[in-house]
Amino acid sequence: MSRKRDISAEAGARVTMHQIAKRANVSLGTVSHVINETATVRKELKQRVVDAIEDLGYHPNQLSRGLRLNKTSLIGMIIPDITNPFFPAVVRGVEDIAYKNSYRLMLCNADNDPAKEAAYFNDLRSFLAAGILIIPSLNSTIAWKHAMPPMVCVDRRLKGWKGDSVTVANADGGYLAGKHLTEMGHRQIGIISGPSNLANAGDRLAGFLKALGEAGVSLSSEYVQEAQFDRAGGYSSAMRLLNLLPRPTALFAASDLMAIGALSAIRASKLRCPDEVSLISFDALDITELTDPAVTGIFQPGYQLGYTAGKLLLDRVDGLDLPGRDIVLKTELKVRDSVSRLLVMADK
Ligand code: RIB
Repeated sequence: MSRKRDISAEAGARVTMHQIAKRANVSLGTVSHVINETATVRKELKQRVVDAIEDLGYHPNQLSRGLRLNKTSLIGMIIPDITNPFFPAVVRGVEDIAYKNSYRLMLCNADNDPAKEAAYFNDLRSFLAAGILIIPSLNSTIAWKHAMPPMVCVDRRLKGWKGDSVTVANADGGYLAGKHLTEMGHRQIGIISGPSNLANAGDRLAGFLKALGEAGVSLSSEYVQEAQFDRAGGYSSAMRLLNLLPRPTALFAASDLMAIGALSAIRASKLRCPDEVSLISFDALDITELTDPAVTGIFQPGYQLGYTAGKLLLDRVDGLDLPGRDIVLKTELKVRDSVSRLLVMADK
């Protein structure tokens, strides 16, 4: 038997628990127990409440519940750049663990603007978010002392951070990239490094240079370019590197977006990858499997970064009181098609 919905619900009027109780002919306390599952209610009473909720189109008022509990079921996540293909997998990992635990994710895009990032951080606190995850933007102004409510750094740590963090072994990944190029015979190498004020960029560069050092390769400073983690940065840095003499036989891009920019620069320079210029990247996203050639890169587990960070945050939301935990996930080399072996011409 289909029940006629109350037209006031259709009109979107705010339905109250009192109206539910009247409609179901039960006490307000019974309605509250059914909605908040705070006590067992007789089956027939519970069904009358459920029917009344359905007929009147009632939705619990999360804001008033949040004010009562001084926290909501909101988890806030601030990311630097929603257009960067690296971040969706990280966000998805957070969203999965949050939803599984009846939390709802509010995603905030900082556009790498420290002022916008700080505004979102303050808004999430005033919205009584149960917890916050942050992938810090460049020049972030958020500091440990502000870390209220529970908060976890993901992928990048805030300067002076003492709380929980989940990152990847960036230096190890940079080392794997450098080792792969030198083992493939490359000595004249150009580096497109990320922003020096981001710890993950600095670690990747340090690891890469360590591998070159072990292979007896040293680079003069003009062969190390610094850029933003984006296509434009990759393109302009690669153009400068490809105009150096001797020209690099291989390029290392510190992120996939930079690598896509570098591929455009190689093409604009009428060069062929990997026959004339090899290219290795960091991220090894699906998107650089679809480029021509598919870019060899260092894979970092974005989804696992987010899922793990979400779990650490929920521990804090549940009251865990421990010193900050730093989880570091492994990276791995994914060999694709953009690095060729350099055949050293024997002296005649
Ligand atoms: O492309 C964005 C880069 O910055 C990625 O390598 C990721 O590590 C993020 O921090």
